[in-house]
This record gives sequence, structure tokens and C-alpha cells, in this order.
Amino acid sequence: MSTYASQPESTIITEEDFSKFKEFFYRRTGISFEKSKRYFVDKRLVERIEATGTGTFRGYFTLLRFQASGEELQQLTNVMTVNETYFLREEYQFKCLVNSILPEIVQCRVGTDPIRIWCIPSSSGEEPYSVAMYLLESWSGIQQWDVEIIASDIDTSIIRRARAGRYSARSVQYLPDPWLKKYFESARDEYQLCDDLRQAVRFTRVNLAEPTDTLGYRNFDVIFCRNLLIYFDDASRQTASETIFEALNPGGYLCLGHSESMSRISSLFEVRKFPEAIVYQKNLEAK
Ligand SMILES: C[S@@+](CC[C@H](N)C(=O)[O-])C[C@H]1O[C@@H](n2cnc3c(N)ncnc32)[C@H](O)[C@@H]1O
Repeated sequence: MSTYASQPESTIITEEDFSKFKEFFYRRTGISFEKSKRYFVDKRLVERIEATGTGTFRGYFTLLRFQASGEELQQLTNVMTVNETYFLREEYQFKCLVNSILPEIVQCRVGTDPIRIWCIPSSSGEEPYSVAMYLLESWSGIQQWDVEIIASDIDTSIIRRARAGRYSARSVQYLPDPWLKKYFESARDEYQLCDDLRQAVRFTRVNLAEPTDTLGYRNFDVIFCRNLLIYFDDASRQTASETIFEALNPGGYLCLGHSESMSRISSLFEVRKFPEAIVYQKNLEAK
């Protein structure tokens, strides 16, 4: 049983409650909470029990499961997600994109269809906006090719922040000064991304663990799925890898976070060792 000094008896969350919740949340989001996350989870559950006035875990859990709009599940998801990100995180992959991946894509391309890139999860937008900046700054093909950048996350509040494009000094700390000056307006410690870049990325809410959400996401040439699979267990990683496979064009590329790997999860992809990074590729003959 977990208790806090100021917590009323009625909102105490038992081991059994935690297990029920853990299983439910896992099925809905793919996110698997270890026992070590108990304090983090309990604290947020208690906050939402109080905010909704449901009074007890049992009342709150009923609301979560049966509310037709799913609004409370979304609110809870928004506070349970870890949104850590920053501009140019794992920059070697953006270098790989412009120096190795895109040249291969355009070489094989028949016709003039746009190049489609999907960042899932995008969190507050630093990753897809970094992709856009890298294309503008370091890829000559941008003069010739249309590129669509779609950015998705399960968390609706973080998507609102991504669309607004307002960032802290910490978030932009690894951007070169000329890029900062070119793409942002700054006031005190806040950096506002310019409208042109904000409009270059389309943000949508997508749950990667929900097949009906991802059905409409197809024909991507490159998918960035970085620092999400670390929150999944093996079963949800497997499902996510199948979804990503479906979403990619034959020959499409997948970039994972530096501590993530497809090799143990799925044999669907080929490993490509480029000078800048290891990337996964969907076979050209695959449907
Ligand atoms: C640590 S951030 C990673 C952001 C960025 N890709 C990066 O590497 O900097 C993890 C993000 O995954 C999102 N997320 C968690 N579960 C998800 C799911 N089932 N579908 C889509 N996004 C999810 C969270 O909301 C959070 O914004």
C-alpha cells in the first residue's frame, strides 16, 4: 500500500489497484510500468482522482474504463508520459539522413512523389523541427524535392506545445548560433520558432499501440521512432515494429534511439551500417 502525508485514506492505492491499473494502461498505450515506477504512477493517479472528484481509486478506474469520450484517459496519459527531448538530440542520425539516406531514396525514386518522413513520437516538436532545419541547411536536394514531415505523439498537451513552437534555453542549447538567429525570435529566455518552420511540420495525435490510429499512416520513406520503445515491453515493441513496417514504403528506413535496437525484436528489417549511424531498412521487395 502506498501513502503520502497529506493523502486522504480514500485515495490510497493498493497493490491490487496498481496491478489492475498497470494492465489496463499497458493495453491502451503499450507503456509498461515497472514496480520501480510505483511512486511516479501513484502520485499522478492521486492527482487525477482529486481533479475529477471521483474520490476513490475504484470510482476513478470506472470513469477511466467506461467514459465514452475517453477524455479522462487522455488527461491521464498526458501526465503519465515522459516528454524529454531537445533540438539536435542524437544529431548523428540527422547527418545520416542528409548524407546517406536521402541520396539513396532519390536515386531509386521513379517520378516526383514527395519524400515522406514520420516522426513518432515527436514530443514537443524538437525532433521534427530539427529534421526540417537539417534539410534546409544541409541537403541540396531540398531545391528539387517536396518533403512532407508528419509528427505524431499520444500526448495531446505536448502536441499543442509543439505546434506553438515556443522553447526554453535548455531545449535549444545544442543549436548552432546562426541557426538560432535564423529560425527563432528570442525574448528573455524564450525562443519562438518562426512561422515558416512551424508550418513545415504537420502534428497529429497518434497512439502507436492502437492499430486504428495508425491505419491512415502509410507510404513513408523514413520513420524516426526514437526513445519510445524503451517504455514498451517486448510484446508492445513487437506490435510497434509491425506497425512501422506497414507504414514504410518498400526500401523505407527506420531510425531508432541510440539505446534501442530492432535486432532482438523483429527480423522484418535489414540492418544498414552507414558511416554516420546504424539504421533499419524495409526490404525493397516487401509489400
Ligand atoms: C522521451 S519522448 C521522445 C521524443 C523524441 N522522439 C526524442 O527522441 O527526443 C517519448 C514520447 O513518447 C510519447 N509516447 C508514449 N507512448 C506513446 C504511444 N503509445 N504512441 C505515441 N507516442 C507515445 C510520449 O508522449 C513522449 O512524448
